[in-house]
Amino acid sequence: MDIHGADPFGFDTVDLSSLRQLRSMKWRAYPPDVLPAWVAEMDLGTAPAVVSALSEAVARQDFGYAVDLQAPELTEAFCGFAARRFSWPVDPARVFLLRDVMRGLELWIEGFTRPGDGVVVTTPVYYPFLHAITEAGRVPVQVPAVCTSDRWELDLERLEATFAAGNTLLLLCNPHNPVGRAYTRSELTALAELTVRHDVRVVADEIHAPLVYAPAVHVPFVSLGAEVASRTLTLHSASKAFNLAGLHAAVAVVGSAADGSHLESISYRRRGAAGILGIEASVAAFTYGDEWLDALLVHLAGVRDHLGAELAARVPGVSWFSPEATYLAWLDCSGLGLGPSPQSVFLEEGRVAFSDGVAFGDGGAGFVRLNFGTSRAILSELVSRMVAAL
Ligand SMILES: Cc1ncc(COP(=O)(O)O)c(C=O)c1O
Repeated sequence: MDIHGADPFGFDTVDLSSLRQLRSMKWRAYPPDVLPAWVAEMDLGTAPAVVSALSEAVARQDFGYAVDLQAPELTEAFCGFAARRFSWPVDPARVFLLRDVMRGLELWIEGFTRPGDGVVVTTPVYYPFLHAITEAGRVPVQVPAVCTSDRWELDLERLEATFAAGNTLLLLCNPHNPVGRAYTRSELTALAELTVRHDVRVVADEIHAPLVYAPAVHVPFVSLGAEVASRTLTLHSASKAFNLAGLHAAVAVVGSAADGSHLESISYRRRGAAGILGIEASVAAFTYGDEWLDALLVHLAGVRDHLGAELAARVPGVSWFSPEATYLAWLDCSGLGLGPSPQSVFLEEGRVAFSDGVAFGDGGAGFVRLNFGTSRAILSELVSRMVAAL
């Protein structure tokens, strides 16, 4: 490995036939002639330090139950990562181990709203947010993002109206999957003021925070002041940036000692347990993964720009805003005349699998989400299949 080379980790040389051997949902959900670019996992492997940590755990045959709620090595690794990458000093006493990010979100919906209550989401949004709300018997209160001339923005006026109407929980996705925004300090400050004024709790899902492209930066919502911090549950995981989605370990940073006690009061079985392999992988990623992550960000920004050039040249009817964060592109296909679910046309006619925009809630019709966490060659093939479908 030449760490000074142009592609030190071989991201552009991943091989499709090896990818097709993978057991993951991404590669198993569709027949083998379909090229998958839907669920949020990358084709780019993980950091070498993670592979070593996992190999050591496998060699130890360390397959028992993981520790519950407190994993000191993970807490230390995460606090170091948050300080280095987000200039965020995290109090280790506020850090808890969870099985995954979505479970944290569900526990807060169950714990801090009642059946029938509204829960506010900024759509289009990672669709399990919507499922988590309805499955808990609550009602999604959808506030669609506003499309300006150069980016998606939060609709602060409508958000305030939903808070004023008595909805007391906001699920914030920042960076925002699927629209690719890393909200700025001033946007988040304006939102934070509203949550304080209307006494709204916030779950800040910041799982994509390590995947922000310069010059954008990740601003942790809790960093906006003590009043904001005390009402916010922040959720993180190494799983998106380091490609570990099946290993099950996430980090919750609670806003107060009382919220920590709330988490502890929920039974082990209801909380769901993290896995040892997930914890070991996350510790390695957060501690030793920076060099790989930096190279990944360079690669992904390059593929993102390659996608922009390919779309402009070959599928000009598609419009999009180049994302500031995530390896997900939110493509407006309404100009192609393919109806509300262009995903099905691309799948049937082009044998390429994107995520259907409709699933992401209000504002999603006519869109697809394309996962560009891959090589330039595979990206070009994805676009070729779009062209073939048309
Ligand atoms: C915004 C967001 N939150 C949560 C998740 C899932 O995280 P977990 O598997 O830890 O529940 C994803 C996965 O794509 C995501 O994009």
